[in-house]
Amino acid sequence: MSNIILIGFMGAGKTTAGLRLAKELGVSLIDTDQRIEEEQQRSINDIFAAEGEAYFRGLETQQLKKLMQQEQAVISVGGGLPVQRVNHPLLKQLGQTIYLKAQKETLVKRLQGSTTRPLLKGGQLEEKIASLMEAREAVYEEVADIIVETDDKNLNEVVEAIKEQIGSFRRKEIK
Ligand code: S3P
Repeated sequence: MSNIILIGFMGAGKTTAGLRLAKELGVSLIDTDQRIEEEQQRSINDIFAAEGEAYFRGLETQQLKKLMQQEQAVISVGGGLPVQRVNHPLLKQLGQTIYLKAQKETLVKRLQGSTTRPLLKGGQLEEKIASLMEAREAVYEEVADIIVETDDKNLNEVVEAIKEQIGSFRRKEIK
């Protein structure tokens, strides 16, 4: 199999679903945020604070480029990565992209109290999420090969839905 890439807003469950999916498929999970933090030996909060967002976006693209030889992995990418158009051909080449979609209300609930995401710091959480979502949703839909709605699903159901969709996507590819 080529790779399966999970995209979606912060709090959409990319890492949690990614871990479970990778385990069930017997492959590894690669998380671009985690790789960046390991390489940089500092947190995403610290990178944003010291170098700014544009610098972080550059690191994300570098990570994707490093993955170009990767096969048979589930890859979870940060919520802002697919928004950068420079990353689109890289994502296409890397594998099937699955958008884990969630409504604003669901995300607000899940992101309450998150301290690890610099873009959500300060101000009204709900407003921040709303404005970022407005700017991003269309791009997520454009990039995605498959969309999985997550709002009314538990972890098992999300993973099952992904597996089902990957199957039908593959069958379409073969035809
Ligand atoms: C970001 C999402 C984060 C992380 C960084 C920026 C974004 O990843 O890459 O804080 O721009 O949406 P998660 O989507 O895993 O929270």
